[in-house]
Amino acid sequence: MKLADNKATLSFSNGAPSVDMPVYQGSVGPDVIDIRKLYAQTGMFTYDPGFLSTASCQSAITYIDGDKGELLYRGYPIEQLAVNCDFMETCHLLLYGNLPNAAGKAEFTKRVSNHTMVNEQMQFFLRGFRRDAHPMAIMTGLVGALSAFYHDSIDINNPEHREVSAIRLIAKMPTLVAMAYKYSAGQPYMYPKNNLSYAGNFMHMMFATPCEEYKVNPVIERALDRIFILHADHEQNASTSTVRLCGSSGTNPFAAIAAGVACLWGPAHGGANEACLNMLEDIQRMGGVSKVGEFMNQVKDKNSNVKLMGFGHRVYKNYDPRAKLMQETCKEVLVALGLENDPLFKLAMALEKIALEDDYFVQRKLYPNVDFYSGIVQRAIGIPVSLFTAIFALARTVGWIAQLNEMIGDPEYKIGRPRQLFTGSEKRDVLPIAQR
Ligand code: ACO
Repeated sequence: MKLADNKATLSFSNGAPSVDMPVYQGSVGPDVIDIRKLYAQTGMFTYDPGFLSTASCQSAITYIDGDKGELLYRGYPIEQLAVNCDFMETCHLLLYGNLPNAAGKAEFTKRVSNHTMVNEQMQFFLRGFRRDAHPMAIMTGLVGALSAFYHDSIDINNPEHREVSAIRLIAKMPTLVAMAYKYSAGQPYMYPKNNLSYAGNFMHMMFATPCEEYKVNPVIERALDRIFILHADHEQNASTSTVRLCGSSGTNPFAAIAAGVACLWGPAHGGANEACLNMLEDIQRMGGVSKVGEFMNQVKDKNSNVKLMGFGHRVYKNYDPRAKLMQETCKEVLVALGLENDPLFKLAMALEKIALEDDYFVQRKLYPNVDFYSGIVQRAIGIPVSLFTAIFALARTVGWIAQLNEMIGDPEYKIGRPRQLFTGSEKRDVLPIAQR
């Protein structure tokens, strides 16, 4: 980061001396005011619940311009990556900062493929879960458990360990998600097939059975690969910040990523794709497109607590570029599967049209986010609704690990430790129990 020519001056109305603070410039995006010495200089903290105005780190991985609706991975627009690259190239880009050439891609893909199996013992660990456990509960447990199975790569301060655990995590997540699915379906686990693509192998582990030959449908394979690319990273969102904060204590990479999985589960974050599809199914049960107006009135009623899931974003105040790409993919998949008249897709289009024209949404700059269409694609592919967020976790793993490794390599990194504005009781004495 570069020191700007100007500085920020903070003055106080009570006559306390003003303080100067340095301003830094990134390569693009807003400048930041460096407040690290503020407490030492003034005895005050800043107050910013939800990090509305706080940059928690410097990062060179992903850039979002929320007003323009722009998303760049290492400088490359998501629209170009989604069309010209596959997920393995995207992983290479996020992890190492550059798009590989053909030989580099082959070498990286081979390295990932070498780690797709999980320790055979993990299936016994999985067996401890109830068959109806939510896949995200299972994933939180399984990813955390990787540190017990792969303790030869858990030293976060060792670059080789970090590299091996990054590759292991990217390689094993599809296997774990598919195992969680097969376990709930009561079907045998399918071992990975390394001659298939990353997405194709995942489809094989999900949908093949030992009884029949399974052929990967290339349209679905491409759609899944695109879902993975679109979800691969999104700068300092809640789960990524969780991974960084968790990792900042020096814990092992598997534990830090498990924390990210747990955070992603929430309906305001990765759980929105599941919540969005459940919402569409509820409206469909109530009468479908004819009930959209009634549903929208509930959404706009402040007392109802009903939200239009898949709409709104902390950073995007314009169309989420991933939502546009996902809508395209959605159409392609539905056509390829002969589901062009899918009622949920029609319903989603009707909801989107109304919302984009409605004052409530226009004034608040609420647009569809990536989750608005991803659920419809996944459902069409045959992925159960409860597994949607686990697919998101699979794809986001590369972003989490790239961000974690970036943090560890940053000479300015410290254990994350926010401060607070205390509003509780002042010091008081404990009374003997009979007098309370
Ligand atoms: N439906 C209806 N109203 C909404 C929605 C929505 N989906 N999203 C925001 N609003 C309203 C809020 O009620 C608020 O209105 P007010 O100013 O009258 O009080 C205003 O828009 C601003 O919203 P905030 O909640 O303050 O925005 P914030 O940045 O804190 O929240 C969030 C962003 C959590 C994504 C929110 O828009 C939301 O809950 N959306 C639905 C869930 C969702 O789709 N999440 C996925 C996010 S993308 C991802 O993780 C991949």
